[in-house]
Amino acid sequence: MARQAASISDYRALARARLPHFLFEYLDGGSYDEVTLRRNVEDLQAIALKQRVLRDVSTIDVSAELFGKRWALPVGLGPVGLSGLYARRGEVQAAKAAAAANVPFALSTLSACSIAEVAAAEPGFWFQLYIVKDREFVADMIARAKAAGCGALLLTVDLAVPGTRYRDYRSGLSGSMRGPVSRLKQVLQRPDWTWDVAVRGRPMTMGNLEPVLGADAALSDLMGWVAQNFDSSVTWKDVEWVRSQWSGPMVLKGILDPDDAREAIANGADGVVVSNHGGRQLDGALSSARALPPIADAVAGRAAILADGGVRSGLDVVRMLALGADFALMGRGWAYALAARGQAGVAHVLKLIEAEMRVAMALTACTSVGEIDEQILERSGNQATF
Ligand SMILES: Cc1cc2nc3c(=O)[nH]c(=O)nc-3n(C[C@H](O)[C@H](O)[C@H](O)COP(=O)(O)O)c2cc1C
Repeated sequence: MARQAASISDYRALARARLPHFLFEYLDGGSYDEVTLRRNVEDLQAIALKQRVLRDVSTIDVSAELFGKRWALPVGLGPVGLSGLYARRGEVQAAKAAAAANVPFALSTLSACSIAEVAAAEPGFWFQLYIVKDREFVADMIARAKAAGCGALLLTVDLAVPGTRYRDYRSGLSGSMRGPVSRLKQVLQRPDWTWDVAVRGRPMTMGNLEPVLGADAALSDLMGWVAQNFDSSVTWKDVEWVRSQWSGPMVLKGILDPDDAREAIANGADGVVVSNHGGRQLDGALSSARALPPIADAVAGRAAILADGGVRSGLDVVRMLALGADFALMGRGWAYALAARGQAGVAHVLKLIEAEMRVAMALTACTSVGEIDEQILERSGNQATF
């Protein structure tokens, strides 16, 4: 197993070696047969970039503007639940790495560290919101995000019901009476993680959910709570309701259809994230790479387009932008690095992404992010080659 990481796939191997099995499986897995999870990665990687040569590419600007701010890269750390358990106070470490690199970090509703804890360490992050049945609790979370000065609200809309993740059953995270015993065995096989996170990283609670789950909530309580409390009756009316309480940038995450993107804008969204939740929800749904171009056409510059799903390198970021995104988000990519090396790992992944973007931009003759468009894709007929 590689000790030095040169790529996100190296970080994945390191994360697998360090995390208790059930935590790695939760992070790595997707729903059902993981068809969409695989398509996200494969469709993106299959897109051929058009190499151009003998242009002056001695100066390349990889910065990008989004929601009134100039970021070092058109890349953000998307919301990843339970990331606070991948490393000690994990969300704080990720937020610090993102801030030092000047890229956005989105804190999940289902984080170990609370909004207040992350804000005390590194304010300015984005907050990802799930709508649960108890609307007072949702309103309270929005108020907490506002008080913490969060820079944007990502409202995730693709979890009306949870997709089944077979790996979580097999690993003992969900559904099994023997789960706690099996998880304890897996924890004991990972002494480095146990010392770093389970001992020195306490309390291991769900920070934002403490008002409803209590301070002693174990993992199994969380999963049970999600299943019982996520609200499948949510509609566009609820989006309007969230909009009425949040005056900053509001982004709908989990859009795969051009009509839904149009409706998002009509309901006051400042942006959408083209996403299938990293292949963790509707297995068989389109990959983000395939869903993106028609959504970009439908949005036509009226709102920001972010996209995630399968981004494993700076080349993939360039591909997402060429397909019509303004910004790419990573999920597993940064979380593997957090699990493997904490804040330093996340910082390193962002460096890798930047270096890979610079090579891809130089060899497609783009000297700024604004120049990246469909012209840099090899075409077969009217389609980017997959
Ligand atoms: C372990 C894990 C937990 C996630 N938790 C959340 C979450 O709490 N909220 C959310 O909106 N998306 C969540 N996502 C989805 C990610 O934000 C993102 O859409 C997805 O990971 C992108 O695909 P990628 O992992 O291939 O980059 C999660 C993804 C993973 C892998």
